[in-house]
Amino acid sequence: MSDNIKKIGLLTSGGDAPGMNCAIRAVVRTAINNNIQVFGIKRGYEGLLKGEIAEMTAKDVSNIMFRGGTILRTARSEEMRTEEGIEKAANLCKLLKLDALIVIGGDGSLTGGLALSKKGVNIMGIPGTIDLDLDCTDYTIGFDTAVNTSLDAVDKIRDTSTSHERCSVIEVMGRGAGFIALWTGLSGGAEEIIIPERENSEEAIIETILENRSRGKRHNLIIVAEGKGNSQKLAKNIEKATGISTRATILGHLQRGGSPTARDRVTASIMGLKAVTALIEGKQNRIMIEKNGSFTDIDLEEGLNFRREYDDFLYKAAKILAI
Ligand code: F6P
Repeated sequence: MSDNIKKIGLLTSGGDAPGMNCAIRAVVRTAINNNIQVFGIKRGYEGLLKGEIAEMTAKDVSNIMFRGGTILRTARSEEMRTEEGIEKAANLCKLLKLDALIVIGGDGSLTGGLALSKKGVNIMGIPGTIDLDLDCTDYTIGFDTAVNTSLDAVDKIRDTSTSHERCSVIEVMGRGAGFIALWTGLSGGAEEIIIPERENSEEAIIETILENRSRGKRHNLIIVAEGKGNSQKLAKNIEKATGISTRATILGHLQRGGSPTARDRVTASIMGLKAVTALIEGKQNRIMIEKNGSFTDIDLEEGLNFRREYDDFLYKAAKILAI
C-alpha cells in the first residue's frame, strides 16, 4: 500500500463513449472512500492546458450512470500533439501537485498519457472508445452501447429495405477498425460486411447480391466500416451493376450517444474502481484492461505497443449464417 496518493487528476479525452460517466463516478467514489481528493479536468487535455480543474465530490457524480457522453466534457487536443504542449501539461500536473492522472479515452488520448508519463506524471489509463481498437484489451468502454445502437438502426433499415426489395449499404463508425461493423453485421444478419482488416472486392460483393437475388432474397444488407471508404459510391456502383435499387445510410455520431448498456456500466465501474485501487497499491503508468473475462492492469507503454492479429472468425460466421 502506498500513502503517496493524496490527489488525483481525472479527465476524459478524444471521442466520448457511453459509459465514461460510470467510470468517472467509480473513480471519484473509490478515491473519496480512501481519503483521496479527485480533481476533475474539463475538456480533456485542452482543459488541463488551460487549468480548467475543480475538486469533485461524491455528490457531483450522482445521477450520471445512465447518461451518455461525459460530464467532464471532452476534446481532441492539437496542442497535446506537440512537444511544447506535452511539456506544458506535465509541468501543470506537477504545479497542481497531482500524484497521478487518470485518463479515460482511446488510443490517441492514452498515447498523450504515455508522453506525459515520460515527463514524470504517473498515468493510469482507462480504455474508453466505441471503436474497440486498443489491441491490449478485450473490451473498451462504449463498444457494446454503440453496437446496440447501430443494430437498432440496422433492424429499422431492414424493414424498409425488405418492403422496397432494395439493397441497403449502412456505414458504421470504427475509425481504422472493423469491430463495430463485424458485430453489427453478425447480429443484424447482414449479407456482407466490409472492414479495413480484410479485402472484399466490389465485384465479389456485386456477385453475392446477384446470387442472393436469384435465390429469392428480397433485400441485401451491406455493413461498411467507415475506415473502408465511400459507402455512397459503393451504393451507386451496386445499383448500376445489379439494377437493384440501392440506398446508403451513414449512421455517424448517433452511435456515440445514448444511455450505456449494463455491459458498459459494469465494465466502466469496475475499471474505475480498480484504477484507483492500483494507484493506492503503488502502481505507476498502467492501463486497465479486460482479459479473458477478468479485469487487470498492464504497463501503459507495453499495452499501447501490443498488436493483436486479426481473427477472421466473426466475418466467416456472419457469411455462413447469411446464406
Ligand atoms: O473514436 C471514436 C470515433 O467515433 C470514430 O469511430 C470516428 O472515426 C471518430 O471518433 C469521429 O471523430 P469526431 O467525433 O471527432 O468526428
